[in-house]
Amino acid sequence: METREKNNLLTEAQKILNLNWKNGFTIPTSKLYPFQWNWDSGFTSIGLSHFRLDRAIQELQSLFSGQWENGMIPHIIFHSEDEKTYFPNYDFWESSVNTGAPKQPKSSGITQPAVHGFVVEHLLNKFPDNEQLIHFIKSIFPKIVHYHRFFYTYRDPDREGLTYIFHPWESGRDNSPLWDASLDRISFNQDELPFYERQDLKLASASERPTNFQYDRYVYLLALGKKYKYDERAIFEESPFLIQDTLMNAVLIASNQSLIRIGKRFGFDTHEIQEWQSQAQRVFDEKLWNDELQTYVGYDLRQNEQILHKEIGGFTALLAKIPNENRAQKLNQYLLDLHQKGFYLCPSFDVESPLFDSKRYWRGPIWPQMNWMIYQGLKKYNYDKTADIVKSDLIKLVDQLGYYEYFESQKSLATQLQTGYGGGNFSWTAACTADLLLEKTSY
Ligand code: GLC
Repeated sequence: METREKNNLLTEAQKILNLNWKNGFTIPTSKLYPFQWNWDSGFTSIGLSHFRLDRAIQELQSLFSGQWENGMIPHIIFHSEDEKTYFPNYDFWESSVNTGAPKQPKSSGITQPAVHGFVVEHLLNKFPDNEQLIHFIKSIFPKIVHYHRFFYTYRDPDREGLTYIFHPWESGRDNSPLWDASLDRISFNQDELPFYERQDLKLASASERPTNFQYDRYVYLLALGKKYKYDERAIFEESPFLIQDTLMNAVLIASNQSLIRIGKRFGFDTHEIQEWQSQAQRVFDEKLWNDELQTYVGYDLRQNEQILHKEIGGFTALLAKIPNENRAQKLNQYLLDLHQKGFYLCPSFDVESPLFDSKRYWRGPIWPQMNWMIYQGLKKYNYDKTADIVKSDLIKLVDQLGYYEYFESQKSLATQLQTGYGGGNFSWTAACTADLLLEKTSY
């Protein structure tokens, strides 16, 4: 890519991060997502660091200001109560029913992937001697450990080293076909469902969003959490949806690794993290690998069975350095084959499946933060050629279609489009693209 083009993209990315900056934190995009989201903030912080390291730090500080007593970092932090265009808003979640939730800021009652450990290590690698950053990392370190402890204490009832989610939104891949069968099994009388009105359909095309059937089940699980005042043990007893997700666990393991390295550098005790880690890596590799599909898959704890779909979360195992060379090679080859078949990397769902939909939310499109993580994972195994495709595909899509939330994965279709999908001026797209553009190596 020419320097001028690259500079234009960077200027645009910086503009978006400025636009979405709200006095201490960044919203993913206006209207559709007008608050602070958990894992979005992690990626955004990486992007911000290239332009305003002080903001990158503040971003994470704001997020952690919403941490609950039990260690959970909620998936949404509602710093403002004025924004009415979102459902479910703070008044629907009512986090105050849990006595361990901070009074302010208000928040949701579920979590999202724990990216923050590897995010802060990424920042530290970029600015290894920055005093302000070092000071910040030392102060946030125990809070991130507390967050990880939440997962291993409350979300791993059998103490096997794998944590579960009780709501699809916790996985970050809200509408993936992965959850379909488990959601289909949830049955209830319509009068058990609190009244609600979707807002997303007023802001984005219904063809890109979850169906009403799915939305009812999202609300049902939310209401279940609230009924039990978000008490984790009670939710575990009753929730019909309990899944050990690949991405959730891989991200946690990758962050554990980062915390161990950071802890050693700054003299923190890392024994507890090492203990989680020794079990988690092994069990992930044993329990979640599927030989027929040649990938890692989720596990439904209510059905006691693997969820048999080939899907993008399995590839984040690379980021956590879980697979041996042989398994890693299978993941790598699969991506190269997709590239040969005319897909941008990395489609979020199995392109051969009847459930694949290249336009609809998490059922096939390309997601920028996924490319960022898979790029880093492939690099760890020295699959540089595939890593470069993953990186340059994202940059090409952004260059051609703009800084959207997600993108068409079929090349033949993407060339006919003028825009990406979902929200525009999207923070993690700007952040991940900027970070990849500014890499010292390649491109
Ligand atoms: C959607 C995504 C989720 C993201 C949020 C804000 O809900 O599925 O991963 O955190 O939007 O961008």
